[in-house]
Amino acid sequence: MSEIVSTESRGDCLVIRVNNPPVNALGHAVRAGVVTALADIGGARCAVLHCEGRTFFAGADITEFGKPPQSPSLPEMIAALEDCPAPVIAAIHGMALGGGLETALGCDYRIIDRKARIGFPEIDLGIFPGAGGTQRAPRLAGIAATLGMTLDGKPIDATRAVKTGLCDEISDGDILENAIEFAMQQSQKRRIRDLPSPVVDQPAIDAELAKAAKARRGQIAVDKATEAVLASAALPFEQGLEKERELFLELIGGPQSRAMRHLFFSERLSAKVDGLNASPKSLGLIGVVGSGTMGSGIAMAFANAGFSVRLFDANADALKAGMERIRSLYMASAAKGRTSEAEALDRYDRIQPAHNWEAFSACDLIIEAVFERMDVKKAVFAELDKVARADAILATNTSYLDVDSIAAATKDPARILGMHFFSPANVMRLLEIVRGAKTYDITLATALDAAKRIKKVPVVSGVCHGFIGNRMLKGYGREAGLCMMEGAAPEAVDKALYDFGMPMGPLAMADLAGLDIGYDNRRSMTAGEDYEPLASLLQDRLVEIGRKGQKTGAGIYNYEPGNRTPRPDPDVNAIIEQLAAEHGVKRRDVSSEEIVERCMLALINEGAAILSEGIAQRASDIDVVYANGYGFPRYRGGPMFYADELGAGHILERLENYQEKYGPKWWTPSPLIRELAASGGTFGHWKRDR
Ligand code: CAA
Repeated sequence: MSEIVSTESRGDCLVIRVNNPPVNALGHAVRAGVVTALADIGGARCAVLHCEGRTFFAGADITEFGKPPQSPSLPEMIAALEDCPAPVIAAIHGMALGGGLETALGCDYRIIDRKARIGFPEIDLGIFPGAGGTQRAPRLAGIAATLGMTLDGKPIDATRAVKTGLCDEISDGDILENAIEFAMQQSQKRRIRDLPSPVVDQPAIDAELAKAAKARRGQIAVDKATEAVLASAALPFEQGLEKERELFLELIGGPQSRAMRHLFFSERLSAKVDGLNASPKSLGLIGVVGSGTMGSGIAMAFANAGFSVRLFDANADALKAGMERIRSLYMASAAKGRTSEAEALDRYDRIQPAHNWEAFSACDLIIEAVFERMDVKKAVFAELDKVARADAILATNTSYLDVDSIAAATKDPARILGMHFFSPANVMRLLEIVRGAKTYDITLATALDAAKRIKKVPVVSGVCHGFIGNRMLKGYGREAGLCMMEGAAPEAVDKALYDFGMPMGPLAMADLAGLDIGYDNRRSMTAGEDYEPLASLLQDRLVEIGRKGQKTGAGIYNYEPGNRTPRPDPDVNAIIEQLAAEHGVKRRDVSSEEIVERCMLALINEGAAILSEGIAQRASDIDVVYANGYGFPRYRGGPMFYADELGAGHILERLENYQEKYGPKWWTPSPLIRELAASGGTFGHWKRDR
């Protein structure tokens, strides 16, 4: 037997043990080992399939995707489980995910640890269960429940696993011992393939499809997965398997799955920093300065992960309002059933209002989330410098400002960095961690560890105006504004980008954020910052006539009271036309292809600059920022992955086309794009000489 798969006889029961850390992915060695073990079953009356370590199989080995298949394949291994003359029992602990659950469904029975969960997360990789899961699961759980799990991707707990019929029994105590005892009582094989086909419950199926259509707009795997699951009712088992395979292979070789797999690995890589050589400090008490929307959300993110938090605001009324907001958000989450009421109250209790700066003297990490102005931030850090312990880490949540200048307001700039949360901070997964010129390795390592504990996806950025995400957004917004001035109606600009896959268009987004924010920003720009006045003419005019966006019931669009749906306004179109005429902009038809292309090229060109300057460590970090902080469609992999799919040569040619038309100011191709176009390289493979 291999080191990865071993067997042990326990009386008449053969225990097949798999040990393939960290998550027992079903790589080739595992599959081959299990098939060999089954072939050697000898006179055993039953077998138990058990995994060592923290989990049952977490799925097929994703690193093998796209490589030449190696026999035995996962379906072949599952067939060997079914063909084994003795009943085989899956002993599930931790998670049984994807191919892991399909393996369990290839067994005759499944016993599950009370804390374990099972699921089909493949949809998040742009695929669906492709090793018989779509044919076996419906024969136990029905079509609607299988579709629900397949299209939603979230695992279900042990109680639900038994209720749906996917598992047979819950185990309390030692899963292996319980599974052996259970196995010894089974004298019969019970292959799922021999069960009758599921019945079609159309209303329940339609309800699942409606949910998926909304949550997974644009993802082609939804239709293919549905077709495969429905085949379990329409076709005999073997033909159903063939249908599943055919649809699965279409997806796995396609661009959407490639993009989503790229993000899976990129999101795990982004927390790793080349050359970082320090272990994180342990964190206990967290301090948050500023109890506005951002500060409250940050306090909640830490409280949700079990940390005690001190929340301070120099304005006592604002602090009271912040605490009330937090309480009502927790109560709303309990009312929706996301947490129990007791848990919601516990979380709330972990956040203690603080009434003076001294409250921070015991904190290990203090995050500032006050008004976005350098003098205000510096004043806060000067106060923190007086009260915080010398070894405490101080972080600023600034979205744009120079972290090094903020750090300079303190005695020890090396313990300062940026922790840029995205709103709402208790929900959004992205956390940009801004490493200052003097930030200690241990400061950075601790912030990365904190991000992991509060379940954020961290991306490290260097210091520059707007860091990775907001710096890139500038060009994206600029091109949207220019397309509108040149002739596209606001709703046409937004629709083009919505259809590309963005959750909302940039102009509706500007209304949501408040047009006055950009207006004020443009008026407080410091030396070295620049913007395109033509692109913001409309926003400036609208702010000046009191249309500041959703909050005033009108901005680029109109809003009916209590309704956030943007409604096009002919008066705004008239203003656009008037402004265009005043500034000599010739109006023309601007196609949706042009809108998308210009907005994407602007993102990519700035992304290339960010990469070559070393602001981002790697192209995939930029993709992680955009997929998790800006709603970039996951099935497109992020702007830099999208650029690689188009090819650097194509990107260069299109940038040069716009450069010729509009001049060099915004359209000069980044030298990195020229380099990649010349060498045939990709952003994904490019490495900066350090
Ligand atoms: N294949 C290969 N590597 C995997 C993997 C898989 N299925 N699942 C996790 N890993 C790797 C991760 O890349 C990570 O590697 P590094 O340490 O080198 O970064 C390591 O295992 C640990 O993973 P996490 O950091 O994610 O650990 P976690 O404890 O936070 O989460 C988990 C564990 C919930 C299992 C999570 O890793 C996960 O969701 N994995 C993917 C599960 C999945 O999608 N399974 C379906 C696979 S596709 C399939 O099975 C298709 C089919 O039908 C044939």
